[in-house]
Amino acid sequence: MIVLGIESSCDETAASVVADGTDILSSVVASQIDIHHRYGGVVPELASRKHLEAIVPVVEEAVAASGIAPGDLDAIAATQGPGLVGALLVGFSFAKAYAYTLGIPLCGVSHLEGHINSVFLEPDPPPFPFVALLASGGHTSIYHVTGHTGFELMGQTRDDAAGEAFDKVSKMLGLGYPGGAIIGNMALQGDPAKIRFPRSYLDKSESDFSFSGLKTAVNRYIQTHPDEYEDQVADIAAGFQEAVADVLVYKLVHAAEEKGCSHIAIVGGVAANRRLREKVMQAAQKKGLSVHIPAIDLCGDNAAMIAAVGYHYLKAGARADMNEDVYSRHRL
Ligand code: KG4
Ligand code: ZN
Repeated sequence: MIVLGIESSCDETAASVVADGTDILSSVVASQIDIHHRYGGVVPELASRKHLEAIVPVVEEAVAASGIAPGDLDAIAATQGPGLVGALLVGFSFAKAYAYTLGIPLCGVSHLEGHINSVFLEPDPPPFPFVALLASGGHTSIYHVTGHTGFELMGQTRDDAAGEAFDKVSKMLGLGYPGGAIIGNMALQGDPAKIRFPRSYLDKSESDFSFSGLKTAVNRYIQTHPDEYEDQVADIAAGFQEAVADVLVYKLVHAAEEKGCSHIAIVGGVAANRRLREKVMQAAQKKGLSVHIPAIDLCGDNAAMIAAVGYHYLKAGARADMNEDVYSRHRL
């Protein structure tokens, strides 16, 4: 089954053609970073307008690059939520119209389920069940994954998401948006042991997270070192990143042990973080766990993951009604 995936939940307009939920025939991502950069974050109204400009060319490019004629697409899967409503409406409404025109089925899928299924686009996917950490700009959660569409939430952040903490700390340091990649690069030049920031483990036996204390600690450091901090930006970035990575890795490994799973995965934008990737590999090696992390371009928002999860829903007969709406929030 050849599925066209469409994603527009935040600041990326993306389309991808995927065969049988695993083989990427094409994947196009149009980022809006340049527009939102000057505002220090995503401006929802601008995002919607940019999606509107990008959606047709992005889909056309993805279909052309796949080598498949539009008439050979079997179905469409589009992100229905969670995300920015105006942004979602562009991709989802386009998907409805395109599916109707082509006379093929459409299904709406969850962006979060898409991220988790991104590991199945890699050559050596995990067997079920496994434990997955989803760390993005809006979510930081651990799931016991029992199937492509079967997820048990084990724990989640009680305040900021990990990616959100990266974004906010980047802003505090005057480094701007998008914070994750900027902090990650800056940290390469810093010493993670120079400035030690607190690790918030909460109850060590649970899979919940809290990053607001860490964010406050970085802010306090900046406030109490007004004359020095500008020369220490790389060390602050490295120290902050180390604290986030330590907590994420600890909780993920602990959750896998609790469930007796030998396969773990990290997905979502923060999974692109090099130090996190390194640290989870080290921890997993010690514990005899197998790690699954998508390639960098499949960690951030993309439409291949939407087609990948959509394939399983479509195969099971899921069909979106033409009256269906998008949703800004949902729990997985
Ligand atoms: O999955 P994603 O692209 O969009 C959401 O679903 O939210 O994740 C975006 C988040 C942002 O907060 C961004 O700062 C973070 O992922 N991110 C990173 C890195 N690249 C992106 N965080 C840490 N290190 C990175 N290299
Ligand atoms: Zn995402």
